[in-house]
Amino acid sequence: MLRRTRTRRGHRWLTVMMAITSLAGAVVVLSPRLSAGAAAAQCPWMDPTQSSDRRAGELLGAMTLDQEISMLHSTESTMMTYYGTAGHIAAIPQLCIPDVVLNDAGAGVGDGQVNTTAFPDGIAQASSWDPSLQQQYGTALGWEAWHKGINVMLAPGVNIARVPMNGRNFEYAGEDPYLAGQTSAAVIKGIQSQNVIATVKHYAANNQETNRMTVSSDVNERTLHEIYLPAFETAVKQGHVGSVMCSYNRINTVYACENPSMLTDILKKEWGFSGFVMSDWGATHSTAPAANAGLDMEMESYNNGQYFGAALKTAVQNGQVPSSRVNDMVVRILRSMFADGLFDHPAVPEPQGFAAVVNTPAEATVARNVAEAGTVLLKNKDGVLPLDGIGKKIALIGQAAGGHGAELAYQGGGSSHVPLAGSVPVVSPQQGITQRGAANGDAVVYADGTVVADAVAAAKASDVAIVYANDSEAEGSDRPNLGLNYGACGLVTCAQLPVSQDQLIEAVAQANPNTIVVLNTGGPVLMPWLNQVKGVVEAWYPGQEDGNAIASILFGDVNPSGKLTQTFPASQSDLPTQTTAQYPGTTVAGDTVGPHATYSEGLDIGYRWYDTQNISPLFPFGYGLSYTTFGYSNATVTRTTNGATVSFTLTNTGGRAGAEVAQVYIADPAVSGEPPKQLKGYQKVSLQPGQSSRVTIPLDSRAFARWDTSRHTWVVDKGTYTIFVGSSSRDLRQQAGVTLAARTLAP
Ligand code: NOJ
Repeated sequence: MLRRTRTRRGHRWLTVMMAITSLAGAVVVLSPRLSAGAAAAQCPWMDPTQSSDRRAGELLGAMTLDQEISMLHSTESTMMTYYGTAGHIAAIPQLCIPDVVLNDAGAGVGDGQVNTTAFPDGIAQASSWDPSLQQQYGTALGWEAWHKGINVMLAPGVNIARVPMNGRNFEYAGEDPYLAGQTSAAVIKGIQSQNVIATVKHYAANNQETNRMTVSSDVNERTLHEIYLPAFETAVKQGHVGSVMCSYNRINTVYACENPSMLTDILKKEWGFSGFVMSDWGATHSTAPAANAGLDMEMESYNNGQYFGAALKTAVQNGQVPSSRVNDMVVRILRSMFADGLFDHPAVPEPQGFAAVVNTPAEATVARNVAEAGTVLLKNKDGVLPLDGIGKKIALIGQAAGGHGAELAYQGGGSSHVPLAGSVPVVSPQQGITQRGAANGDAVVYADGTVVADAVAAAKASDVAIVYANDSEAEGSDRPNLGLNYGACGLVTCAQLPVSQDQLIEAVAQANPNTIVVLNTGGPVLMPWLNQVKGVVEAWYPGQEDGNAIASILFGDVNPSGKLTQTFPASQSDLPTQTTAQYPGTTVAGDTVGPHATYSEGLDIGYRWYDTQNISPLFPFGYGLSYTTFGYSNATVTRTTNGATVSFTLTNTGGRAGAEVAQVYIADPAVSGEPPKQLKGYQKVSLQPGQSSRVTIPLDSRAFARWDTSRHTWVVDKGTYTIFVGSSSRDLRQQAGVTLAARTLAP
């Protein structure tokens, strides 16, 4: 077993050596550290004092075309069959190149690995609005991966929640490009601190699962730059991500993985991305067009490179793909491998990695902290929460609260899923709440809801009723609607309810005036019963620490501090995508590949739409309650050479310690044609009761800029910008203006 304490930075090699010596008779790849002297003589690029650029260039110079081609696609290997990884590029021992092992990723080390931690899903991670915690999560993820022999993680996912029904929104960071960018940069920094390359995905405008392999996202230049690309740009410029995964869909009719404008012009030239682009699994559709467009690596599991194997070699030999392009592909891969430590700190080799138990208490603590920090308190009438009375009777109702149901709702489905194999028991809400309640002398009675009369009787006989409701979101399909009425079963088989979950909640609420609903959903749901219940808690898909985390919140050991990263609409008819041409898309004459989803709503997605249309959402973007209250005062704005700085005083005006996510929105002058306001900064601040803190948030020139389609770059318009500071996008407490001169920025 590999222990974390021994193997944190600086001590890793010791563990690798121990693992190697315990391996009897298995094949061990040549490790640079295994014979440092020999490797240095044979492989001069192993000198860690040289730059990644130089080392990559030197190594490239020693490679044959066949060796280069072997780096550009996945190879079927016993490792993959035995080990379950998503992709594998074989080591080249004579060149000191280690195996490249690619693995999913979104909420833990998945793909069939055992004894790894099941973390909360992306939407829960993002709802913490806490980059430092998100970096800790990334570090834990990278640490587990490295000890499993994995050196490329296929995360984070940052696609914008354009359509709340998108079946993969639970993997992503919500509807706002600034928030998604900050979240992803933090996770990337964490992963890459552990000598593992992170992969930001899915590039780009991959916003629905319906027809995901063929749909064309028809989106204009300004909308693309302002809404769908900034999170990737931040991942590149701020997170220094080593790899980008291009997506399945087409963008304005051209496949994302053979789209020269996306891959070369924007990603590599405009943003200066120096790492490599891999395709999503099966998203490569050609050899020369894809290679020349800027795709660097074909990824899928078992075909040994349909397009970037022998076919690419032929294309080079007959001049369809310049050899300089192939050299560039390889240099990009090697540069990220050098920069992120894959040569200097090789991951624990296979098969010891497979056996490694990496779900230590330290990772479980990170999983729990993220789950707690991401949980959003949506309603708390009459202070029904926290449950801090003594000797209460609590009725706990719903399949997602019990053993089997908890397995259903702790994570969404698909490639991000970490199955509960090996020794990863999910802590069910029933376990967590019963155990924590006992400390208060509370008695918890559980009814799964499959017999409604039993649930109602339990609620009637109790002081408080907690009802669980969930949806089941998974990669590969979209949710049919935003209701809870289509049943609680999805990922695993469970008993069907005789009534909808909405009806179950209503029946319980009638039986008990102190009813609290806990939601395990991957995104917004409608709440026809909202006025009938006293409390609502959105716990998302909270990972393996599910029951412990929710018990901390419900009993007040942890003060809720999560905020919504997506608008919860009051009605499905309020959504920005009202026509089938917008979503899920319609066929277009002459295009036989697939339908087109027309992004005609432009910039107006999420809260931007609700603001423009003056529609009141059920719960707005940025919203989340606390068991304490916060006051904002004395906002001031000062001009800086590069924009402005906003400062304000934040005070905990209530009786409990808590954390507030203070949010900064900017309203541009009318001439800019921007949505009414947009998030451009935030900070999560912890305060004791009565404590105040002066908060300062810098706003650079990009915070004031819009994309100009005639100059194809960012511009700041001359005029007065209003800076709002507040507790949510619809709870703005302070404002101040700043007047700026016109300015053109680099793209
Ligand atoms: C397809 C998914 O879209 C992607 O997110 C994942 O990383 C790959 N499969 C590999 O499993």
